[in-house]
Order: sequence, then C-alpha cells, then structure tokens
Amino acid sequence: MNVNVAILAAGLGTRMRSRRAKVLHRAGGLALVEHVIEAARAVAPPDRMVVVTGHQAEQVEEQLAPLGVRFARQQQQRGTGDALACCRDLLEREAGDLLMVLYGDTPLLSAATLLRLRDEQAKSDAAATLITTTLDDPSGYGRVLVDAGGNATMIVEDKACTPEQKRIRVINSGIYCFRSDLLWRYLSEIQPNPVSGEFYLTDMAAILTARGYRVRIMHLDDPRELLGINTRVELAEADRILRARKAEELMLSGVTIERPETVSIDARVRAGMDTVIEPFVRLLGDTEIGEDCRIGAGAILESSRLAAGAVVKPYTIISESTVESRAEIGPFARLRMSAHVGPEARIGNFVEVKKSRLGAGAKSQHLAYLGDARIGKGVNVGAGTITCNYDGEKKHETEIGDGAFIGSNSTLVAPVKIGAASYIGAGSVITDAVPGEALALGRGRQVVKEGWVAKKRARAGGPRSE
Ligand code: UD1
Ligand code: CA
Repeated sequence: MNVNVAILAAGLGTRMRSRRAKVLHRAGGLALVEHVIEAARAVAPPDRMVVVTGHQAEQVEEQLAPLGVRFARQQQQRGTGDALACCRDLLEREAGDLLMVLYGDTPLLSAATLLRLRDEQAKSDAAATLITTTLDDPSGYGRVLVDAGGNATMIVEDKACTPEQKRIRVINSGIYCFRSDLLWRYLSEIQPNPVSGEFYLTDMAAILTARGYRVRIMHLDDPRELLGINTRVELAEADRILRARKAEELMLSGVTIERPETVSIDARVRAGMDTVIEPFVRLLGDTEIGEDCRIGAGAILESSRLAAGAVVKPYTIISESTVESRAEIGPFARLRMSAHVGPEARIGNFVEVKKSRLGAGAKSQHLAYLGDARIGKGVNVGAGTITCNYDGEKKHETEIGDGAFIGSNSTLVAPVKIGAASYIGAGSVITDAVPGEALALGRGRQVVKEGWVAKKRARAGGPRSE
C-alpha cells in the first residue's frame, strides 16, 4: 500500500513569540520539522513527502531541501485545512492509497507509531484513522468526540469548546492517516471557522462522518510523543525528552554516560562502544566518536570526529575538527576550524589550535596558539609558543618539520619554515626559515654583571662623603 505524507509547517507560531518560523526552532539538535521528517521515513521515502511552507518559506525550504522532500507553498496561513489543500497538485496525481498528515511541530513522534497508524488504517474500512491520547491538562488541544463504536464523530478546537467539551480529556494529536481518494474528494467541504475564519482540517472528522464514513481513532496510552510545540516552555520540554532518549539510545549501544540527565547530545551524534561520557558534556551536530574514548566533564564537541581511544579532558571545546586515535586533548583546550590532531599527540591546557595539523605524537602541552600551522610528527611545542599567523591583512602559514623542538615562549612569525629535528631556543622571535637539525636563537643575548648589587648599594646607601 502506497503512503504519501503531507507535513504542515507554514504557520508562524505566534505563541513562540519569535521572528523565526516555529518549525525551525531546534530541540534535541534538529529543527522541529526535521524530527517529523525523520519519523516519517518509516512510512514513505522523502520524495513522497510534501512539506507545506509559508512563513519564512525560503529558510524552511533551504534547511530541508538536502533531505530530499518536496514543498508546497501556502501563501496565506488560512488554517490547517487550507494548508493541506496546497498539496493537492503534488499529491493527488500520485498513486498513493493513503495520505498521512502530520504537523511540523510534533517532534517527539516515533517511527513505530506511524507504522502502526498505517497498518491500522490499511486493515480497517474507515475513511481515516487519527491518533488520540488522554491528557490531564488538555487545554490548547482539539477535543475528540468519540461515539459508542469508538469512531471520531467530531473534533472541537479548544477555543470553540463549550464548558462541557472543555472537560473532555481525549485530544487530537494532529496525526492522521486518510484514504487519499476520500480526502481529496471531500477536503473542499471544509468551511471557514465562523470565529477565526480559518479552515480547520479537523472538520474532516465531522464531514466524513456526515457522508456515512467512519473515522477511527488510534488511542495512545502514553501521550509523551504527541506533544505539540506551541510555546518555548514546550520547546524546552521536548528538548529534554529528546536528549534523554538519545542518551538512552547510546547507553543501550554500549556507551557509559555518567549522570545522563546532565549531558546534551544531538540527534545525529554517534559514539562507539566503551566510550565514557562524563557529566555536563555537550556533543553537537554531526559529531562522531570512536570506541574507547573518554569525554571529560563539561567538554563541548561540535561537528567533530574522534578516533578510537582519544581522550578529551574536562572543559575542552572542539569544533569542526578531527582527533586521531589515542590523542589527548585538554583540559581547557580549544580546537577549531579543521584542526587535525594526529595519533597519540597531546594538546594541553590553554592551547588553541586553529586550522592546523599536528602529526603523530606531537605535543603542545601548555599555553599556546597554533594557527594555520603544519606541525610534523613528534614535534615538541614549548609553553607559550605563538604562531603569528596574521599580519593585519592576510593569514600566513607556519611549517614545522618532524621532530623539531620549539623552546618555550617562542614567537614564530609566519610565513616561516622550521626544518625537521631543529631546535628553537626559548624566547626566540623567529622570522626567517630555519634549516633542519639547526639551532636557531632569536633573542637578546644575556648579559651578567657580577657584583652589580654591591656596587649599587655602595652608590645609593653607602656613607656619604662630605
Ligand atoms: C492543531 C489541531 C488541534 C490539535 C493540535 C495538536 C487544527 C485546526 N487543530 O492545533 O486539533 O489538537 O494541532 O498539536 O488543526 N499550519 C500551516 N498552515 C496554517 C496553519 C497551521 O501550515 O495555515 C501548520 C503549523 O505550521 C503547524 C501545524 O500546522 O505545524 C499545526 O498548527 P497549529 O497552529 O500549531 O495548530 P494547533 O492550534 O496546535
Ligand atoms: Ca500546534
């Protein structure tokens, strides 16, 4: 049975109090609507999904285009019924037997639930199946009127509820599976709501019932995955749940997480077996962590890759960078803009590495800035070393050959090359190339004046001659 999916995402989301379209707000490291698309993949490939855009359509489409979904524009936000009508041209021609309608603001929805919904609708003779649940506090949601046979006969929006209807706790999740033919045949019967003037998709329950069809409900006992995000309070709640789910997924796959309630791990992050994640870690974007790694407390890794056995010590920040196997980074280190740290290399406290490569076993253990540098294998970079990569206009490169020793507090003025196995004396300012196996010194020569203190004393404090 063919399934097409329409995802309604054109609303501004006034209750968010934001200039940004609601469905682009992020929870668990993805835009809300991206979670919905992710779940919907279980029932249809992305090219059978149409996302209805309106508010900030360009931004929403730009963000979602790489996922391979299609788009329909809703010029004016005239309600969920009108939004679905905007997909007619794209979807009605398709041979799809079923049309699943999802809202872009329900990010906790699971693939398993959508599969169940498809199967329930496919085996029933109903015109549609909609997912309901029971909430202690149903305010804000549409209430579902269910007849003795378990069919939905009407959905009443919160604002339109009579005091009695307000007490109904069975709510409409906004997730439906329609028989395509019947949906497209009767969709245009939706009339604008007398109060708001909007076309409510939820009216389809009453319309189909009046036409003699049945609308079934699929009731979920656990309402958590149906949370619709309308405010930032609900956004925070969704984020919390998504992060908890992600931590659980990693733990079940063999990752130790200490105090999992304190870590934030984005949806796309991967981590290998026997890796240990300490409290308050944030793993963001497309970060990939190998096996047997340790991520220290408070570390933040964004879109970075760590090979097996790498150790990141507490309070280190790594973005868009790569750390090879068994290298050690931190504490309090920073890697950014495609920094690449070779196997078993070490980057210590208060070292910043920007757009630089360090070879296997290289070390920079304390207080350094390494920018636009290519640093060979086994190089030792002393404390306080600075690559002066910027001349006020352009960035320049520093190259350090294998096995070189850079004395503490050296200033390497780029562009400059330091040959393999050479030594730079501590405190040097290096402006010219250094050949391999040489010693370079670039500092004032030390002067020692013996007995100087006694002479000073004699001049200043000695008995004065009359
Ligand atoms: C909707 C349902 C309500 C249900 C609740 C579940 C309707 C009329 N009401 O209410 O029964 O309990 O979801 O979360 O459907 N949208 C458009 N174009 C529009 C209007 C909305 O694309 O013109 C999109 C929004 O971007 C959003 C989704 O539809 O992703 C739902 O809209 P929203 O305004 O949040 O509906 P609710 O009032 O929450
Ligand atoms: Ca909503």
